[in-house]
Amino acid sequence: MSAAAAVSQSRQWDRLMTLVRLGAIPGDGVNRPCLSPLDREARRLVIAWAQEIGAEVSIDEAANLFLRRAGTDPDAAPVLTGSHMDSQPEGGRFDGIYGVIAGLEAITALHDAGITTRRPIEVVAWTNEEGGRFAPGCMGSMAWAGHTPITAWADVRDPAGITFGAALDEHLAAEADLPRRPLGYRPHAYLEAHIEQGPVLEAADIEIGVVTGIQGSRWFSVTITGASAHAGTAPVGTRQDPVQDMLRAITALNELTADPTDTLRFTVGRIDVLPNTSNTVASQVRFSIDIRHPDGAILRAKGDAIASTIAAALKTCRAEVKEHFNAMPVGFAAEVVETVAAAAAACGHSALRLPSGAFHDAQFVVPLAPTGMLFVPSRAGISHNPAEYTSPEQLAAGTRVLAESLARLAS
Ligand code: GLV
Ligand code: MN
Ligand code: MN
Repeated sequence: MSAAAAVSQSRQWDRLMTLVRLGAIPGDGVNRPCLSPLDREARRLVIAWAQEIGAEVSIDEAANLFLRRAGTDPDAAPVLTGSHMDSQPEGGRFDGIYGVIAGLEAITALHDAGITTRRPIEVVAWTNEEGGRFAPGCMGSMAWAGHTPITAWADVRDPAGITFGAALDEHLAAEADLPRRPLGYRPHAYLEAHIEQGPVLEAADIEIGVVTGIQGSRWFSVTITGASAHAGTAPVGTRQDPVQDMLRAITALNELTADPTDTLRFTVGRIDVLPNTSNTVASQVRFSIDIRHPDGAILRAKGDAIASTIAAALKTCRAEVKEHFNAMPVGFAAEVVETVAAAAAACGHSALRLPSGAFHDAQFVVPLAPTGMLFVPSRAGISHNPAEYTSPEQLAAGTRVLAESLARLAS
């Protein structure tokens, strides 16, 4: 029996639906913040399932979790697969967690089919891909890849004021029973399975996305400082109102980032107003900027113009702009892309090559190993939304292609 034939649609779906209960929110969504008790509970389930097939479990100092199925050559560089288990605060059931469960299902299928591979296969659950609780995202993969030390984010606070450093320490203490491994290594290859999170595959009625690369993303945090004042007595002409200046700034940024081809994506997703009362002119506003483009030169130019665009738009306040995430566009390795395409064909699944609009941990593995991704369709392209949906059949198709690809890469 082939690894693909041994993939169990029902086991995979049942596991995903078991995990959904940890952090379920109305509308079929999930809120499972990284390094939270719910995240730990979910990891314990995944660890127990991995141990059923004798996989070796370990974590690193960034709390990235690894599940290793041995190969026949213990000295051979492993093939790495996986994704993340944290969710957006109002997230869906499949973003990230699918790639971890698909990786686990793939090595379980190899086990069930009695297939040995020369190389070990490791399934990873990266810490904090979303950046929903602690910004930015991809902290675990960035630290693992040597891009940024994990300590660089120690003082980042979640909305409750808890620092990333404290949450990580608490988490590592709770997982102190798991063997520790060093950060980073050079895998033979990395292949991440994920839901598409966009409309392309469904619209084309295609089962598998063979991902060719990922567009670039930059995140900025903007603080605009004015002066609080009484809403009833302070004449409008004397105010330093940061909310009004924020509106001017965002209007100017909309002009800076206007793109008739809708390739450049500009988002202000988070706004915090202080002190946030109805009858006080605000003293300060903080907002986030997420800007994305597949062309590194355009992303660099537009991102570099953000601070001056904001400064020129302000009327009465002052602004501070800090960049805290910079993921330049990447192209995936031909050998991994071709392996996924060949595996899809061998499994009898239709496939289409496409780039990723979302960022992924795979972006940071690129400098260390030949890297690729595969996508399964997202209903109506909806993601970062409780209504995110991919059917059990579609998820199983992706996992069959993943299992076949891993078996090829590890042979
Ligand atoms: C990942 O969650 C992204 O925002 O692209
Ligand atoms: Mn994701
Ligand atoms: Mn996401």
